[in-house]
Amino acid sequence: MTLRNVGDLPVLPLPESFALTAAYNDDQFPNKVNLGQGVYRDNNCQPWVLPSVREAEETLHNQQVNHEYLPIAGDSKFLTKARQLLFGPQIASSAENISSLQTVAGTGANHLAALFCARNLCPKNVFISDPTWDNHHLIWEMAAPNVTQRLYPYYDPTTRGLNLDGMLAELESSAEDNDVVILHACAHNPTGIDPTREQWKKIAQVVRRKKLFVVFDCAYQGFASGNADADAWAIREFYSMLFTEELSSSSSSTPAGMFVCQSLSKNFGLYGERIGALHLIIPPWTSPEGAKAHLVQLVRAEISCPSLFGARIVHTVLDDAELCTKWQEDVRIMALRIKTVRALLKSELEKIGARGDWSHIEQQIGMFSFTGLSIAQVQELRERHHIYMLSNGRMSLSGLNETNVAYVAGAIRDVL
Ligand code: LMR
Repeated sequence: MTLRNVGDLPVLPLPESFALTAAYNDDQFPNKVNLGQGVYRDNNCQPWVLPSVREAEETLHNQQVNHEYLPIAGDSKFLTKARQLLFGPQIASSAENISSLQTVAGTGANHLAALFCARNLCPKNVFISDPTWDNHHLIWEMAAPNVTQRLYPYYDPTTRGLNLDGMLAELESSAEDNDVVILHACAHNPTGIDPTREQWKKIAQVVRRKKLFVVFDCAYQGFASGNADADAWAIREFYSMLFTEELSSSSSSTPAGMFVCQSLSKNFGLYGERIGALHLIIPPWTSPEGAKAHLVQLVRAEISCPSLFGARIVHTVLDDAELCTKWQEDVRIMALRIKTVRALLKSELEKIGARGDWSHIEQQIGMFSFTGLSIAQVQELRERHHIYMLSNGRMSLSGLNETNVAYVAGAIRDVL
């Protein structure tokens, strides 16, 4: 084997969302606008520490907590609350077949899921939505290099809606037993288009028939509707349709399992604290112990055990009925503000006669708008107008407010 000279390694580009933030921070133009990274901003386009989180910080400060190691699987009190948030109290309290581990945010959960699948499930393919969060590709490339990445149709540019037929046809015709399919649980990144409840049921039926292993990525719970329970509907429905006791008689058509990658970064505004969880669901008539032990071993090799602060904050908020209600209100405020700027941008574009139909901006949901702007137009927005967004046309709407929306709309009209 030839030892490579690390000095010869080529320089790689930064992932786009981080490169955009760096470029925006360096930009000296006073009216610059950051619509790049998927992070919530308040009405002054500033980071927002949720009031419920601030209160939890004070509580923790007064408790004078220590800084001992957590167990490898994470803080069990945090995991109980995180599981309830995702699955609802009823499923969470009775489901022996859900194993949960604390992770380094949603990315860590996705990575752990990919590693586990590559080593233990050995799928031939992983099906990824076209388009998706760019990190899905990188994570699977790094953690599961022997698994072939395939795109399934998701976004239909002609209708600016979901291409459900294309998606189902691709899974029906190309997926094999135990292949993995990554689904965005809500507020799809980057398109802002989610399946309806009827469409989710059709997807679950194909998953069952083809015995696919779903990896749900749940990064934006609360951002689609303003309500965390409503946004977890698809996950709970898949659980009921695929993994409950009543199905045992038809166990031959049950997938081997399902992962849910849960981020608490966005809905608690704890971006830099890197807090998340991975939940493994297996059929109720199989034993979770072996799979859990293998996940624990992977965590031990990667990070030894997870970190404390984010878990403590989330647990403190969710464990206190009053604080939990305040947090639900915080989530509603964030979702509502984004909805409000959607409407503002659309009406501003229409008011100034920007060419085209802009109704999709208001119809899409969650943190993003998939604007339909081309790579060249996005580049021009950045170079001439100091407006930063992803080259695929994704706009992170929380960078907009009443003050800059007219400037952004004017710039869009200009580059069309
Ligand atoms: C995004 O999609 O912009 C965020 O999730 C940040 C990231 O990691 O890319």
